[in-house]
Amino acid sequence: MDVARGLEGLIEEVREGFGEEIVALRRDIHREPELGFDTEKTAEKVLAALDGLPLEIETGVAHNGVVATLMGGGDDGPTVGLRADMDALPIHEETGLPFASEADGKMHACGHDGHTSMLVGAAKTLCQEHVRERLSGTVKFVFQPAEEGGGGGRVMVEEGVAEGVASIFALHLWPGLPFGTAATKAGPIMAAADAFELKIKGSGGHGAMPHLTADAVAIAAHVVTALQTVVAREVDPVEPAVLTVGEIGAGTAFNIIPETARLGGTVRTINDELRERMPGRMEEIARGIARGMRGDAELDYRFSYPVTRNDADAAKLALKVAAGLFGEDRAVELGDPSMGAEDFAFFLEELPGAYVWLGVGDVSGLHTPKFAFDEEILSRGAALLAALALEASQQSS
Ligand code: NI
Repeated sequence: MDVARGLEGLIEEVREGFGEEIVALRRDIHREPELGFDTEKTAEKVLAALDGLPLEIETGVAHNGVVATLMGGGDDGPTVGLRADMDALPIHEETGLPFASEADGKMHACGHDGHTSMLVGAAKTLCQEHVRERLSGTVKFVFQPAEEGGGGGRVMVEEGVAEGVASIFALHLWPGLPFGTAATKAGPIMAAADAFELKIKGSGGHGAMPHLTADAVAIAAHVVTALQTVVAREVDPVEPAVLTVGEIGAGTAFNIIPETARLGGTVRTINDELRERMPGRMEEIARGIARGMRGDAELDYRFSYPVTRNDADAAKLALKVAAGLFGEDRAVELGDPSMGAEDFAFFLEELPGAYVWLGVGDVSGLHTPKFAFDEEILSRGAALLAALALEASQQSS
């Protein structure tokens, strides 16, 4: 099937057939955001929306994830995975929308409500008999909890969700990218994200008698500055790397020199070898400074999400499908990766596939309390996911 011709009118078909349902589901999920693996109600909403469709449903995957499988009209094609994340963020919503979060301090500020409803829309589209008969393989719709830090993708892979799947795709709504534009690239599209905690140990005392102490605050200040030289002076300047200290804590009163200080932060890299090297250098530098000031430092480093690495053929296919649906000028090949991270990376460590950004234009950024988007994007995203499944299922398994 020629994608550009065979899928003509698909966006319109999705919008007319399921547009209202997709928007209603998105609002329903938005109103009741859930964090991490605790996506029980969101999973229930997904199950209710999928009810009656010719799908084989698996629940309780990675705690509250859902996997729905559709057998296509031809049984000899490969299995294509489509994945959406379901969890929200611990942010207090400030959009003022009529369907704003009803849960204090929780908000769908990363668009996962949209991703989930787009995937439901894709399932509804592909389940229609006249579309299903064009599907030569099987489609696995993967609704994943705990993208925001919990590593739900890893748990899903551990529970076998990637088994038997030939390729997998996922979308993310993307502020700053023109509305209705899909963007992706071969190779790394998102960085590896690791977390660290540095415990600075000194010896405390009276604020007026610093000579009798080893000042953990002064040590911490020097360590924060010196850590910046790891990226600036030890990493090849053409190699992307970020080291951010996002937390700093010490002390109980203005006139007491505290005994300890704590730094927390994140390290982002694209190169695996550099990723492995970072903690060693960070600890040596922090320790060296702390010991030079009569204290000590201890690094606790957690390797978290790996690099999200797209397969070259899958990325090419995604761009071709997007160009067929949205037009050539709305399928953009990205240059540089984002230093953000994404736990879809765990699927892409197991399988070829592609992670695709879907532009929502100039709106408030992801993870901000005012993040909101034009819901017209939902039918387009659902159509893109459905089209990806249709086209990828034509590839030889
Ligand atoms: Ni996200």
